[in-house]
Amino acid sequence: MSDSAAKERDRFLAGLAGLFSVSVSDLRGIIVGFHEDMAHGLAGERSSLQMIPSFVGRPTGREKGRFLALDLGGTNCRVLEVELDGRGGASIAAASRFVIPQDCMHDEGERLFDFLAGCIDSFIREHARRERRRERVLAFTFSFPVEQHSVSSGTLIGWTKAFTASGVEGEDVAALLSGAMKRRGLGSVRIAALTNDTVGTLVAGCYADRSCDMGVILGTGTNACYFENTARIGKFPGPFRSVEMIVNMEWGNFDRLKANRYDAMLDAASPNPGRQQLEKMVSGMYLGEIARLIIREMMERRLLFEEGYHPTFSAPYAFTTEHLSLLAGGCDEVFADLGLANLPDEDQAAMLEIGRLVALRSACVAGAAIAAVITWMEPGLEADHAVAIDGALFEKYPGYRHNMQAVMIELLGDRAGRIALVPARDGSGIGAAVVAAVAAKTSRRIA
Ligand code: GLC
Repeated sequence: MSDSAAKERDRFLAGLAGLFSVSVSDLRGIIVGFHEDMAHGLAGERSSLQMIPSFVGRPTGREKGRFLALDLGGTNCRVLEVELDGRGGASIAAASRFVIPQDCMHDEGERLFDFLAGCIDSFIREHARRERRRERVLAFTFSFPVEQHSVSSGTLIGWTKAFTASGVEGEDVAALLSGAMKRRGLGSVRIAALTNDTVGTLVAGCYADRSCDMGVILGTGTNACYFENTARIGKFPGPFRSVEMIVNMEWGNFDRLKANRYDAMLDAASPNPGRQQLEKMVSGMYLGEIARLIIREMMERRLLFEEGYHPTFSAPYAFTTEHLSLLAGGCDEVFADLGLANLPDEDQAAMLEIGRLVALRSACVAGAAIAAVITWMEPGLEADHAVAIDGALFEKYPGYRHNMQAVMIELLGDRAGRIALVPARDGSGIGAAVVAAVAAKTSRRIA
């Protein structure tokens, strides 16, 4: 690369750093924006935060039993058998993972639910053959925005992430799954809980540790929930048995962030333009794609890859957050896997810098969002708060957690030490089982 081209590349990267930087005043603005939108959402007014009442209160830790759990949220679905020991301990007795075929994600919804019923059927056949006839209680974790009607029913407000299946929006997803299970001969499986993955993660965190009051997902998508005083949920007509209820914020839709031209390009080409602004800047489904858009532009301007054009960067979503994460962890084989063996050092450094900027902005926004929710719950920050967090971005992306914590210290000073970020792997399935345990008991009492 000539000297002048190298200079131009440096200028480009410096400009990029500006486009992706989040200043302290931006971070403070996120907190203010969150508090305003949380208040509007809870009151039932127009807001980018839907603040959905979950009908789920605080678990006691004494919930007990064996439950089936179905987890749908990304490109895989999982069926689990969860065992709760009644003393805050939970284990997964069996688990199977199924890849969701593309047509099930995008064609008629009935196909998707028939596929899910098929997964449950094959799980029961494999792991619990002898017990096939008895009634089974299922906890359904459905990781999309659902307007809950009860703890076990609710309508899909709108698909997020990569899903577009037709005939599901506006429908009760628990009823759709029940119908598919009946068609499959699984009429003896009863859905006792329909929960968002954040709610499951928080309940599981709280089942084990009562100081846990917030659940966060930082994976393919991103979202959070927390315990709210039921009296503060103005739009919830009640009654509810407990003074606290978990509210699913659907924070992925928060829309008061400073978007740049790459964010705009990504949004315009997405299946849900104009929605999920925060999710598109933060979550694992999108970080690789933002980086790809930058790399493509640099490639077109001849600022990267002197030898020519690399097809990987022309195909949407072909470059992933996992690639970025591996690169950030020093795994150089990724270059060869992408067809970029023998890439000059400067090109490698430029790609690493792009990944660093994109992931750093994500961690800053996530850290500020957590600070916003905790200070909403307790402005003085005098108590300890544990935040249960699940998702590969938090768990695996090198430096991500450290950057989130650094932002929280920047915003809250020493008081940030009150907030513990606790990894909560598999929490959503376990938590959904806890919710099912409470619901199954309550419905028996009512019957
Ligand atoms: C998306 C969904 C939300 C879910 C999150 C994490 O944001 O809308 O319901 O919790 O992804 O899976």
